[in-house]
Amino acid sequence: MRQQKLQELLKEMTLEEKIGQLIQVTGKVLKNEENTVTGPIENLDLSNEMLNKVGSILNVVGSQNVRKLQQQYLSKSRLKIPLLFMADIINGYRTVFPIPIAQGCSWDLQNIHIATRVSIQEANVAGTNVNFSPMVDLVRDARWGRVMESMGGEDPYLGEVYAKTMVQAYQGKDISKMGNAVACVKHFAGYGAVEGGRDYNTVDMSERELRQYYLPAYREAIEQGAEMIMTSFNIINGVPVSVNQWLLKDVLRKELGFKGVIISDYSAIAETVNHGVCKDKKESAYKAIMAGVDIDMMSDVYANYLKELVQEGKVPEEIIDQSVWRVLTLKNKLGLFENPYGNTNKEMEEKILRSKQNLQVARETASDTLVLLKNEKQTLPLNKNNKIALIGPYGDNIAILGSWSMFSDKAKIQTLKEVLEEKIGKENVLYARGSEILRQKEINQILIAEGENPILIEKEEQKEKEAIQEAIKVAKQADVIVLAIGEHYKQSGEACSRANIEISIPQQNLLKELTKCNKKIITVLFNGRPLALKEIAEKTDALVEVWFPGTEGANAIADVLFGEVNPSGKLTMSFPQATGQCPIYYNHYHTGRPHNKNIRFVSRYQDIPTESYYPFGYGLSYCNFEYSNLRISSHKISKTNPITVSVNVKNHSEISGKEVIQLYIQDVVASVVRPVKELKGFKKVYFKPFEEKVVTFEITLDLLKFWNERLEYEIESGEFRAFIGPNSRDTKQISFYLE
Ligand code: NOJ
Repeated sequence: MRQQKLQELLKEMTLEEKIGQLIQVTGKVLKNEENTVTGPIENLDLSNEMLNKVGSILNVVGSQNVRKLQQQYLSKSRLKIPLLFMADIINGYRTVFPIPIAQGCSWDLQNIHIATRVSIQEANVAGTNVNFSPMVDLVRDARWGRVMESMGGEDPYLGEVYAKTMVQAYQGKDISKMGNAVACVKHFAGYGAVEGGRDYNTVDMSERELRQYYLPAYREAIEQGAEMIMTSFNIINGVPVSVNQWLLKDVLRKELGFKGVIISDYSAIAETVNHGVCKDKKESAYKAIMAGVDIDMMSDVYANYLKELVQEGKVPEEIIDQSVWRVLTLKNKLGLFENPYGNTNKEMEEKILRSKQNLQVARETASDTLVLLKNEKQTLPLNKNNKIALIGPYGDNIAILGSWSMFSDKAKIQTLKEVLEEKIGKENVLYARGSEILRQKEINQILIAEGENPILIEKEEQKEKEAIQEAIKVAKQADVIVLAIGEHYKQSGEACSRANIEISIPQQNLLKELTKCNKKIITVLFNGRPLALKEIAEKTDALVEVWFPGTEGANAIADVLFGEVNPSGKLTMSFPQATGQCPIYYNHYHTGRPHNKNIRFVSRYQDIPTESYYPFGYGLSYCNFEYSNLRISSHKISKTNPITVSVNVKNHSEISGKEVIQLYIQDVVASVVRPVKELKGFKKVYFKPFEEKVVTFEITLDLLKFWNERLEYEIESGEFRAFIGPNSRDTKQISFYLE
């Protein structure tokens, strides 16, 4: 539709019709059969009249389902303004890819791009116009369940690079084209820094911290043309984001230049009353619209109070018009006025959802994300002639997709047991469950929170003992033990914070007993966050972090276990020594009293080391890579003289493999404290057997900028250090200077 016609349409709309465009509800509220509920729905008080006018729908999917709803809606609509369908397609629609934190560990932009394309192509033909992804929140605290959704993990540079990759992959060049959709970047801003890692909790940080670490990924997403941004639940500077004028107007709109649609998170506007900054819902509606939140997701405050606020002269109608204009413009860019059914396409659904090609992409993506954390005495790869004892609650379990996999077809997931049996024959895979993931008491807590009945606990201790005995019996008959353990998939994700991030007691007991069998143990870990793994790691010979690997996860794991794929994943979050070390991140500042074990009054823990258990960037390969000859083109850098650092990397093995070579920089002395090192570049490089390569990075002045004492984004002269290595800990360093 031409701009002029769109303007005429806006003029023709009644105030209620306009307000309708600013409301979003889930399908459940509209009694739609095929939908998923992703938040509370109890407190919603919406009249039928308003429901007939809402502008967008949340988490209704399926081409036929979406078409039906659109048709019903339009038949009742005076001006025939189509609905917008939004959904949470976090790591895949029917074909499920590894959870975002896992995908991030691949450091493989091409693969991530391809996987994201598949995911949005599937979702788009099934009716999704807007995807609530990517989540670009920086995360440092593994107790927070939503670290699973962060691709960039604890690093702002990775966050930026991944934000760019994802937005490009979702939106393509034209959001109306089949297979593309709007990227809704979330959760603006600082949501990853909730105190104590407890979801929805307070965030309080300095403006420098916010700008330096939390905003860059947003800036990048906006530069890539992201059309929508979701506000976060938390407060920033004492004010909940959904009513925070400074953050939304001054920073997001003016400074970052965001012109698209701002949507609140689920019921977040109404929740500002609970925060205690609005005396009632009416005030929350007032403050949110005045702060520039265009769409109210799943609360009733815009529906019930905006009209009154306009009539009382408190909210100028012009403000409503601006928000409605942004929503109409987006619908228009998606081509919905010409074709309200968008790219919904039943034939395409049949053709591409979970197609052979898509499953293959899922398999390749998954094997690219696994992180080999330990491999003593070359326990891995496994020999196909081995008899394997497959033990543990994830040995024969399809719940390996992670918590945002609600649109997948779980019935079609292969388990690790099935895949191993296919690979080396049934007779060579001996299986025992060995333990449950969680004790019933813990499961019951989850069930109760979900409104379900708890399950009676009966003879649990005895059952645990029997399961272990059975596992030991099986282990004794095999050459090697593959132990598949981890977190319950409902232990990570939204509202899944944990105060103890160790593996559960029954699984720890199982491992303890298995060590007595004197067999090599390979632990395969399924989880959504970094865990405190010391106990587990010490007791196993090899440890593979597989996260929640998605639809083709089991195949990908087998590919890596047998060496058909050489692992190349590297951690994007530090793994702590113990839960009490959280939050922990490699790019921390120096203290005034650095750790020294021979001195008493220094910054340290008495009971654990100061450094992480597994550092950021860490991950092994079946190859042995050696780094040598770090050199620099010049020790002096200037505007006219960008410099390069190079290193030789040699593969000392007779197999090929990929290595993620990482560049870090440190600003040695500055007007404000600077991190001990910061990632500023990486390359994922393929090496043939025994191949040696020279890997070079360019250092430009841009990489040296930071938010200085006066809160200006600038460079300061002096000494800098460049570090190159296979992870953030084991680096070689060289100095250079800016005059
Ligand atoms: C709340 C979550 O915070 C957000 O990430 C999600 O997109 C919405 N619910 C919608 O499901």
